[in-house]
Amino acid sequence: MHSDPRACAHNPSDALATRAEAAGLFTYWDEHWRSHGFGYYVVRRLAAPGTLGFCGVKFTTFRDRRILNLFYRLAPAAWGDGVAGEAATAVVAWAVEHLPGHPVVARVRPENVASQRVATRAGLVHAGHLDGRGLDGFDRIYVTSW
Ligand SMILES: CC(C)(COP(=O)(O)OP(=O)(O)OC[C@H]1O[C@@H](n2cnc3c(N)ncnc32)[C@H](O)[C@@H]1OP(=O)(O)O)[C@@H](O)C(=O)NCCC(=O)NCCS
Repeated sequence: MHSDPRACAHNPSDALATRAEAAGLFTYWDEHWRSHGFGYYVVRRLAAPGTLGFCGVKFTTFRDRRILNLFYRLAPAAWGDGVAGEAATAVVAWAVEHLPGHPVVARVRPENVASQRVATRAGLVHAGHLDGRGLDGFDRIYVTSW
């Protein structure tokens, strides 16, 4: 999924080229789970095998604040079914209830309209005063609170 150019079109810095890089990313994500008891989940349908993608929150620092970075990426075959919106809504509801002291933040490229829709559906709002340069260019910033 992370080596599919379609799934990384808006965030090329996330693209993985080798299995070793994927293993490294897994280790990085898994360390967060071990340290904090939450992180990025696998997204799948209850009644069907197979991974549709990933969605979750992870601590990071943004604008000198400790925030929860909201992440979602699905395999292109799973796009358009409302799965990302459903997963992000569940994750954000959990974060707001269990980690209320930390804003949930989604950093989205302006052209990534689907991602902006997902962030909005999950309850985040665009905070224009926080927009600015990110890893892959200009980012629009969506937050639960600030
Ligand atoms: C962003 C992503 C997770 C959305 O997945 P999805 O399964 O299409 O999302 P959903 O089906 O829940 O729908 C998202 C919304 O965007 C809309 N949408 C989907 N594709 C769109 C497009 N190309 N242009 C405009 N709107 C679009 C849908 O109609 C839906 O709108 P609604 O909430 O008003 O009904 C998926 O495209 C993806 O994995 N992209 C690659 C990774 C990525 O960009 N992650 C986000 C990084 S910030």
